[in-house]
Amino acid sequence: MTGQPTTDSEPIPAARVVFSDADRQEIADRVSAALASGALTLGANTREFEDGFARAHDAEFAIAVTSGTAALEIILRAVGVAGREVVIPANTFAATAFAVLAAGGTPVFADIDPATAALDVDSVSAALSERTAAVVLVHIGGLITPEVCKLRALCDERGLAFVEDAAHAHGCSLDGAYAGSFGVAGAFSFYPTKVLTTGEGGMIVTSDERIRDEALSYRDQGKASFLSNLHTRLGYAWRISELHAAVGVVHARHLDDFVALRTRVARRYLDALADVAYARPLQPAAGLRSSYYKFPVLLGDGIDRAELKRRLTERYRVSLSGEVYETPLHAQPVFAEHARGALPGAELFCARHVCLPVHSDMTDAEVERVLHALTAACTELAR
Ligand SMILES: Cc1ncc(COP(=O)(O)O)c(C=O)c1O
Repeated sequence: MTGQPTTDSEPIPAARVVFSDADRQEIADRVSAALASGALTLGANTREFEDGFARAHDAEFAIAVTSGTAALEIILRAVGVAGREVVIPANTFAATAFAVLAAGGTPVFADIDPATAALDVDSVSAALSERTAAVVLVHIGGLITPEVCKLRALCDERGLAFVEDAAHAHGCSLDGAYAGSFGVAGAFSFYPTKVLTTGEGGMIVTSDERIRDEALSYRDQGKASFLSNLHTRLGYAWRISELHAAVGVVHARHLDDFVALRTRVARRYLDALADVAYARPLQPAAGLRSSYYKFPVLLGDGIDRAELKRRLTERYRVSLSGEVYETPLHAQPVFAEHARGALPGAELFCARHVCLPVHSDMTDAEVERVLHALTAACTELAR
Protein backbone atom coordinates (compact mmCIF):
# COMPACT_ATOMS: atom_id res chain seq x y z
CA MET A 1 0.00 0.00 0.00
CA THR A 2 1.14 3.57 -0.61
CA GLY A 3 0.56 4.63 2.95
CA GLN A 4 1.41 1.65 5.11
CA PRO A 5 -0.77 1.23 8.22
CA THR A 6 1.09 2.67 11.20
CA THR A 7 2.87 0.83 13.98
CA ASP A 8 2.17 1.79 17.60
CA SER A 9 4.72 4.56 17.68
CA GLU A 10 3.94 6.18 14.32
CA PRO A 11 1.53 9.06 13.79
CA ILE A 12 -1.96 8.26 12.51
CA PRO A 13 -2.48 10.63 9.58
CA ALA A 14 -5.67 12.50 8.75
CA ALA A 15 -6.06 10.63 5.46
CA ARG A 16 -4.28 7.88 3.56
CA VAL A 17 -4.32 7.14 -0.17
CA VAL A 18 -4.46 3.38 -0.74
CA PHE A 19 -2.94 1.83 -3.88
CA SER A 20 -1.38 -1.64 -3.65
CA ASP A 21 1.83 -2.53 -5.52
CA ALA A 22 -0.25 -4.56 -7.97
CA ASP A 23 -2.57 -1.58 -8.56
CA ARG A 24 0.35 0.74 -9.20
CA GLN A 25 1.83 -1.73 -11.67
CA GLU A 26 -1.47 -2.09 -13.55
CA ILE A 27 -1.87 1.70 -13.68
CA ALA A 28 1.68 2.05 -15.02
CA ASP A 29 0.92 -0.58 -17.68
CA ARG A 30 -2.32 1.13 -18.70
CA VAL A 31 -0.62 4.53 -18.87
CA SER A 32 2.19 3.04 -20.93
CA ALA A 33 -0.30 1.44 -23.34
CA ALA A 34 -2.20 4.73 -23.69
CA LEU A 35 1.03 6.64 -24.39
CA ALA A 36 2.06 4.05 -26.95
CA SER A 37 -1.32 4.19 -28.67
CA GLY A 38 -1.55 7.97 -28.74
CA ALA A 39 -5.18 7.78 -27.51
CA LEU A 40 -4.74 10.12 -24.55
CA THR A 41 -8.20 11.50 -23.91
CA LEU A 42 -11.73 10.05 -23.86
CA GLY A 43 -10.53 6.59 -24.92
CA ALA A 44 -10.82 3.00 -23.73
CA ASN A 45 -9.86 3.72 -20.09
CA THR A 46 -12.48 6.48 -19.88
CA ARG A 47 -15.18 4.18 -21.24
CA GLU A 48 -14.22 1.37 -18.86
CA PHE A 49 -14.13 3.77 -15.89
CA GLU A 50 -17.54 5.22 -16.78
CA ASP A 51 -19.16 1.82 -17.36
CA GLY A 52 -17.87 0.39 -14.08
CA PHE A 53 -18.86 3.48 -12.13
CA ALA A 54 -22.37 3.48 -13.61
CA ARG A 55 -22.78 -0.21 -12.72
CA ALA A 56 -21.51 0.33 -9.18
CA HIS A 57 -24.07 3.11 -8.67
CA ASP A 58 -26.96 1.49 -10.49
CA ALA A 59 -27.02 4.43 -12.90
CA GLU A 60 -27.81 4.29 -16.59
CA PHE A 61 -25.08 6.73 -17.56
CA ALA A 62 -21.79 7.96 -16.09
CA ILE A 63 -19.79 10.77 -17.69
CA ALA A 64 -16.21 11.30 -16.49
CA VAL A 65 -14.86 14.85 -16.26
CA THR A 66 -11.90 16.77 -14.88
CA SER A 67 -13.22 17.44 -11.35
CA GLY A 68 -16.19 17.23 -9.02
CA THR A 69 -16.66 20.98 -9.45
CA ALA A 70 -16.90 20.53 -13.23
CA ALA A 71 -19.39 17.67 -12.75
CA LEU A 72 -21.62 19.92 -10.66
CA GLU A 73 -21.34 22.90 -12.99
CA ILE A 74 -22.22 20.76 -16.01
CA ILE A 75 -25.32 19.35 -14.28
CA LEU A 76 -26.40 22.86 -13.26
CA ARG A 77 -25.88 24.13 -16.82
CA ALA A 78 -27.87 21.19 -18.18
CA VAL A 79 -30.82 21.86 -15.84
CA GLY A 80 -30.63 25.59 -16.64
CA VAL A 81 -29.91 27.70 -13.56
CA ALA A 82 -28.59 30.81 -15.36
CA GLY A 83 -30.26 33.95 -13.98
CA ARG A 84 -32.02 31.89 -11.30
CA GLU A 85 -31.47 30.79 -7.69
CA VAL A 86 -30.11 27.49 -6.44
CA VAL A 87 -30.66 26.44 -2.82
CA ILE A 88 -27.63 24.76 -1.26
CA PRO A 89 -26.65 23.88 2.31
CA ALA A 90 -24.46 26.32 4.23
CA ASN A 91 -22.12 23.53 5.41
CA THR A 92 -20.61 22.47 2.13
CA PHE A 93 -17.35 22.94 0.32
CA ALA A 94 -17.04 26.28 -1.45
CA ALA A 95 -17.02 24.41 -4.78
CA THR A 96 -20.77 23.69 -4.49
CA ALA A 97 -21.48 27.43 -4.51
CA PHE A 98 -18.73 28.18 -7.05
CA ALA A 99 -20.36 25.73 -9.46
CA VAL A 100 -23.71 27.52 -9.05
CA LEU A 101 -22.09 30.89 -9.79
CA ALA A 102 -20.08 29.53 -12.72
CA ALA A 103 -23.29 28.11 -14.22
CA GLY A 104 -24.80 31.60 -14.03
CA GLY A 105 -26.98 31.03 -10.96
CA THR A 106 -27.18 32.63 -7.52
CA PRO A 107 -26.54 30.47 -4.45
CA VAL A 108 -29.09 30.70 -1.64
CA PHE A 109 -27.85 29.16 1.59
CA ALA A 110 -30.29 27.03 3.58
CA ASP A 111 -29.87 25.63 7.05
CA ILE A 112 -29.15 22.04 8.05
CA ASP A 113 -30.19 19.68 10.80
CA PRO A 114 -27.06 19.30 13.00
CA ALA A 115 -28.13 15.70 13.73
CA THR A 116 -27.75 14.69 10.06
CA ALA A 117 -25.49 17.49 8.72
CA ALA A 118 -27.91 17.63 5.76
CA LEU A 119 -30.41 20.17 4.44
CA ASP A 120 -33.38 20.80 6.69
CA VAL A 121 -36.67 20.47 4.76
CA ASP A 122 -38.31 23.49 6.43
CA SER A 123 -35.30 25.67 5.83
CA VAL A 124 -35.28 24.66 2.15
CA SER A 125 -39.01 25.44 1.88
CA ALA A 126 -38.40 28.86 3.39
CA ALA A 127 -35.52 29.54 0.97
CA LEU A 128 -37.57 28.82 -2.19
CA SER A 129 -38.78 31.70 -4.33
CA GLU A 130 -40.19 32.27 -7.78
CA ARG A 131 -36.62 32.50 -9.00
CA THR A 132 -35.53 29.08 -7.68
CA ALA A 133 -34.40 26.63 -10.34
CA ALA A 134 -32.81 23.83 -8.30
CA VAL A 135 -31.90 22.45 -4.89
CA VAL A 136 -28.54 20.76 -4.31
CA LEU A 137 -28.33 18.18 -1.52
CA VAL A 138 -24.81 17.35 -0.30
CA HIS A 139 -24.31 13.87 1.20
CA ILE A 140 -21.90 15.09 3.85
CA GLY A 141 -19.27 12.51 4.78
CA GLY A 142 -21.18 9.84 2.82
CA LEU A 143 -24.28 10.13 5.03
CA ILE A 144 -27.51 10.17 3.01
CA THR A 145 -30.20 11.93 5.03
CA PRO A 146 -33.40 9.99 5.77
CA GLU A 147 -35.16 13.18 4.55
CA VAL A 148 -33.86 12.73 1.01
CA CYS A 149 -37.23 11.58 -0.38
CA LYS A 150 -39.04 14.50 1.29
CA LEU A 151 -36.58 16.90 -0.29
CA ARG A 152 -37.08 15.28 -3.68
CA ALA A 153 -40.89 15.43 -3.26
CA LEU A 154 -40.67 19.13 -2.37
CA CYS A 155 -38.68 19.78 -5.55
CA ASP A 156 -41.12 17.74 -7.65
CA GLU A 157 -44.12 19.65 -6.24
CA ARG A 158 -42.48 22.96 -7.15
CA GLY A 159 -41.10 21.87 -10.51
CA LEU A 160 -37.47 22.26 -9.37
CA ALA A 161 -34.45 20.18 -10.30
CA PHE A 162 -33.14 18.11 -7.39
CA VAL A 163 -29.36 17.68 -7.77
CA GLU A 164 -26.97 15.64 -5.62
CA ASP A 165 -23.48 16.79 -4.72
CA ALA A 166 -22.18 13.27 -4.12
CA ALA A 167 -18.51 14.31 -3.84
CA HIS A 168 -18.36 12.37 -0.54
CA ALA A 169 -20.72 9.54 -1.42
CA HIS A 170 -18.98 6.91 -3.61
CA GLY A 171 -20.82 3.63 -3.22
CA CYS A 172 -23.35 5.04 -0.73
CA SER A 173 -26.97 3.94 -0.77
CA LEU A 174 -30.12 4.31 1.31
CA ASP A 175 -32.61 1.44 1.30
CA GLY A 176 -30.81 0.11 -1.76
CA ALA A 177 -31.02 3.37 -3.77
CA TYR A 178 -27.59 4.77 -4.66
CA ALA A 179 -26.29 8.30 -4.27
CA GLY A 180 -26.88 9.97 -7.60
CA SER A 181 -30.23 8.24 -8.16
CA PHE A 182 -32.38 10.42 -5.89
CA GLY A 183 -32.15 13.53 -8.05
CA VAL A 184 -31.87 14.28 -11.76
CA ALA A 185 -28.11 13.69 -11.55
CA GLY A 186 -25.26 13.35 -9.06
CA ALA A 187 -21.73 14.79 -9.09
CA PHE A 188 -18.80 12.79 -7.66
CA SER A 189 -15.24 13.98 -6.97
CA PHE A 190 -12.00 12.01 -7.27
CA TYR A 191 -9.85 14.53 -5.41
CA PRO A 192 -7.00 12.72 -3.56
CA THR A 193 -8.68 12.70 -0.13
CA LYS A 194 -11.83 11.04 -1.52
CA VAL A 195 -12.70 7.36 -1.09
CA LEU A 196 -11.90 6.84 -4.79
CA THR A 197 -9.32 9.03 -6.47
CA THR A 198 -7.85 9.63 -9.92
CA GLY A 199 -5.53 12.39 -8.67
CA GLU A 200 -8.02 14.92 -10.00
CA GLY A 201 -11.31 14.03 -11.62
CA GLY A 202 -15.06 13.89 -11.35
CA MET A 203 -18.06 11.91 -12.55
CA ILE A 204 -21.67 12.71 -13.39
CA VAL A 205 -24.20 9.93 -12.95
CA THR A 206 -27.71 10.22 -14.31
CA SER A 207 -30.47 8.15 -15.79
CA ASP A 208 -31.73 11.10 -17.82
CA GLU A 209 -30.71 10.79 -21.47
CA ARG A 210 -30.99 14.52 -22.13
CA ILE A 211 -28.64 15.35 -19.23
CA ARG A 212 -26.25 12.64 -20.46
CA ASP A 213 -26.19 14.15 -23.95
CA GLU A 214 -25.73 17.70 -22.66
CA ALA A 215 -22.93 16.55 -20.35
CA LEU A 216 -21.09 14.83 -23.21
CA SER A 217 -21.25 18.07 -25.17
CA TYR A 218 -20.40 20.44 -22.30
CA ARG A 219 -17.29 18.48 -21.29
CA ASP A 220 -15.93 18.68 -24.83
CA GLN A 221 -16.14 22.42 -25.62
CA GLY A 222 -19.87 22.32 -26.30
CA LYS A 223 -19.36 20.39 -29.52
CA ALA A 224 -22.29 18.71 -31.23
CA SER A 225 -20.25 15.45 -31.13
CA PHE A 226 -16.65 14.28 -30.49
CA LEU A 227 -15.62 14.57 -34.15
CA SER A 228 -17.73 17.62 -34.97
CA ASN A 229 -16.50 21.18 -35.45
CA LEU A 230 -19.90 22.62 -34.61
CA HIS A 231 -20.18 24.14 -31.13
CA THR A 232 -23.77 24.25 -29.97
CA ARG A 233 -23.31 25.31 -26.31
CA LEU A 234 -20.83 27.20 -24.17
CA GLY A 235 -18.76 24.23 -23.08
CA TYR A 236 -15.28 23.93 -21.69
CA ALA A 237 -12.22 21.62 -21.62
CA TRP A 238 -13.70 19.27 -19.03
CA ARG A 239 -12.52 16.03 -20.71
CA ILE A 240 -10.83 13.47 -18.45
CA SER A 241 -7.44 12.29 -19.72
CA GLU A 242 -6.83 8.60 -20.35
CA LEU A 243 -4.04 8.73 -17.75
CA HIS A 244 -6.43 9.81 -15.01
CA ALA A 245 -9.10 7.38 -16.18
CA ALA A 246 -6.57 4.52 -15.95
CA VAL A 247 -6.11 5.32 -12.25
CA GLY A 248 -9.88 5.40 -11.81
CA VAL A 249 -10.49 2.01 -13.46
CA VAL A 250 -8.07 0.33 -11.09
CA HIS A 251 -9.05 2.19 -7.91
CA ALA A 252 -12.81 1.83 -8.46
CA ARG A 253 -12.49 -1.97 -8.46
CA HIS A 254 -11.85 -1.76 -4.73
CA LEU A 255 -14.92 0.30 -3.89
CA ASP A 256 -16.87 -2.49 -2.18
CA ASP A 257 -13.84 -3.57 -0.14
CA PHE A 258 -13.08 0.03 0.86
CA VAL A 259 -16.68 0.62 1.91
CA ALA A 260 -16.74 -2.65 3.90
CA LEU A 261 -13.53 -1.82 5.76
CA ARG A 262 -14.60 1.76 6.46
CA THR A 263 -17.96 0.49 7.71
CA ARG A 264 -16.14 -1.79 10.15
CA VAL A 265 -14.14 1.18 11.46
CA ALA A 266 -17.30 3.27 11.78
CA ARG A 267 -19.16 0.50 13.63
CA ARG A 268 -16.35 0.27 16.18
CA TYR A 269 -16.42 4.07 16.66
CA LEU A 270 -20.23 4.01 16.99
CA ASP A 271 -20.11 1.21 19.58
CA ALA A 272 -17.32 2.74 21.62
CA LEU A 273 -18.93 6.20 21.68
CA ALA A 274 -22.53 5.07 22.16
CA ASP A 275 -22.83 6.33 25.73
CA VAL A 276 -20.31 9.12 26.07
CA ALA A 277 -21.08 12.82 26.36
CA TYR A 278 -17.75 14.20 25.14
CA ALA A 279 -18.07 12.97 21.54
CA ARG A 280 -21.46 12.11 19.99
CA PRO A 281 -21.26 10.55 16.52
CA LEU A 282 -23.79 11.46 13.85
CA GLN A 283 -26.09 8.47 13.67
CA PRO A 284 -26.34 6.82 10.24
CA ALA A 285 -29.92 6.38 9.00
CA ALA A 286 -31.43 2.88 9.10
CA GLY A 287 -30.91 1.31 5.67
CA LEU A 288 -27.78 3.38 4.97
CA ARG A 289 -24.69 1.99 3.31
CA SER A 290 -22.13 4.73 3.81
CA SER A 291 -18.62 5.23 2.48
CA TYR A 292 -17.83 6.94 5.79
CA TYR A 293 -15.75 9.41 3.85
CA LYS A 294 -15.87 11.29 7.14
CA PHE A 295 -16.88 10.25 10.64
CA PRO A 296 -18.23 13.43 12.28
CA VAL A 297 -18.75 13.62 16.04
CA LEU A 298 -20.24 16.53 17.96
CA LEU A 299 -18.06 17.57 20.89
CA GLY A 300 -19.47 17.89 24.39
CA ASP A 301 -19.77 21.27 26.07
CA GLY A 302 -16.55 22.69 27.40
CA ILE A 303 -14.24 20.88 24.96
CA ASP A 304 -12.27 23.36 22.94
CA ARG A 305 -11.90 21.98 19.41
CA ALA A 306 -8.62 23.65 18.51
CA GLU A 307 -7.02 22.55 21.78
CA LEU A 308 -8.36 19.00 21.35
CA LYS A 309 -6.87 18.74 17.88
CA ARG A 310 -3.56 20.15 19.08
CA ARG A 311 -3.36 17.68 21.96
CA LEU A 312 -4.33 14.71 19.83
CA THR A 313 -1.53 15.49 17.40
CA GLU A 314 1.15 16.48 19.88
CA ARG A 315 0.54 14.03 22.73
CA TYR A 316 -1.09 11.09 20.97
CA ARG A 317 0.14 11.49 17.37
CA VAL A 318 -3.38 11.21 15.99
CA SER A 319 -4.41 13.70 13.30
CA LEU A 320 -8.10 14.26 12.82
CA SER A 321 -9.40 14.52 9.30
CA GLY A 322 -10.66 17.97 8.20
CA GLU A 323 -14.07 19.27 9.24
CA VAL A 324 -17.08 19.29 6.90
CA TYR A 325 -16.88 22.22 7.22
CA GLU A 326 -15.19 24.53 9.70
CA THR A 327 -16.74 27.75 8.37
CA PRO A 328 -20.25 27.76 6.86
CA LEU A 329 -20.48 29.37 3.44
CA HIS A 330 -22.61 32.31 4.57
CA ALA A 331 -19.65 33.30 6.80
CA GLN A 332 -17.04 32.94 4.03
CA PRO A 333 -15.78 36.32 2.79
CA VAL A 334 -16.15 35.33 -0.86
CA PHE A 335 -19.91 34.75 -0.43
CA ALA A 336 -20.64 37.84 1.71
CA GLU A 337 -23.04 39.30 -0.85
CA HIS A 338 -25.12 36.08 -0.78
CA ALA A 339 -25.43 35.80 3.02
CA ARG A 340 -28.94 36.47 4.31
CA GLY A 341 -28.61 36.17 8.09
CA ALA A 342 -28.04 33.47 10.70
CA LEU A 343 -28.32 29.74 9.99
CA PRO A 344 -28.08 28.31 13.51
CA GLY A 345 -28.05 24.59 12.63
CA ALA A 346 -25.10 24.98 10.27
CA GLU A 347 -23.31 27.37 12.63
CA LEU A 348 -23.62 24.92 15.53
CA PHE A 349 -22.53 21.93 13.48
CA CYS A 350 -19.60 23.73 11.87
CA ALA A 351 -18.36 25.07 15.23
CA ARG A 352 -18.76 21.93 17.31
CA HIS A 353 -17.77 18.85 15.33
CA VAL A 354 -14.57 17.04 14.53
CA CYS A 355 -13.99 14.14 12.11
CA LEU A 356 -12.22 11.00 13.32
CA PRO A 357 -9.75 9.46 10.87
CA VAL A 358 -11.11 6.69 8.64
CA HIS A 359 -8.81 5.10 6.07
CA SER A 360 -9.58 2.40 3.53
CA ASP A 361 -6.77 0.24 5.03
CA MET A 362 -7.13 1.21 8.69
CA THR A 363 -6.12 -1.48 11.17
CA ASP A 364 -8.04 -2.43 14.31
CA ALA A 365 -5.02 -1.31 16.35
CA GLU A 366 -5.18 2.16 14.78
CA VAL A 367 -8.90 2.43 15.53
CA GLU A 368 -8.25 1.55 19.18
CA ARG A 369 -5.43 4.13 19.34
CA VAL A 370 -7.77 6.82 18.03
CA LEU A 371 -10.43 5.91 20.59
CA HIS A 372 -7.92 5.82 23.43
CA ALA A 373 -6.46 9.19 22.41
CA LEU A 374 -9.88 10.81 22.01
CA THR A 375 -11.08 9.59 25.40
CA ALA A 376 -7.90 10.63 27.18
CA ALA A 377 -7.69 14.08 25.56
CA CYS A 378 -11.38 14.86 26.08
CA THR A 379 -11.17 13.76 29.72
CA GLU A 380 -8.15 16.01 30.27
CA LEU A 381 -9.92 18.97 28.62
CA ALA A 382 -13.22 18.49 30.44
CA ARG A 383 -11.49 18.67 33.88
C1 LIG B 1 -18.91 18.65 -1.09
C2 LIG B 1 -17.96 18.85 -2.24
N1 LIG B 1 -18.43 19.36 -3.38
C3 LIG B 1 -17.64 19.55 -4.44
C4 LIG B 1 -16.30 19.25 -4.39
C5 LIG B 1 -15.44 19.57 -5.57
O1 LIG B 1 -14.74 18.47 -6.05
P1 LIG B 1 -13.33 18.69 -6.80
O2 LIG B 1 -12.34 19.08 -5.78
O3 LIG B 1 -13.05 17.35 -7.43
O4 LIG B 1 -13.57 19.75 -7.83
C6 LIG B 1 -15.77 18.70 -3.21
C7 LIG B 1 -14.37 18.31 -3.12
O5 LIG B 1 -13.39 18.56 -2.90
C8 LIG B 1 -16.61 18.52 -2.11
O6 LIG B 1 -16.12 18.02 -0.96
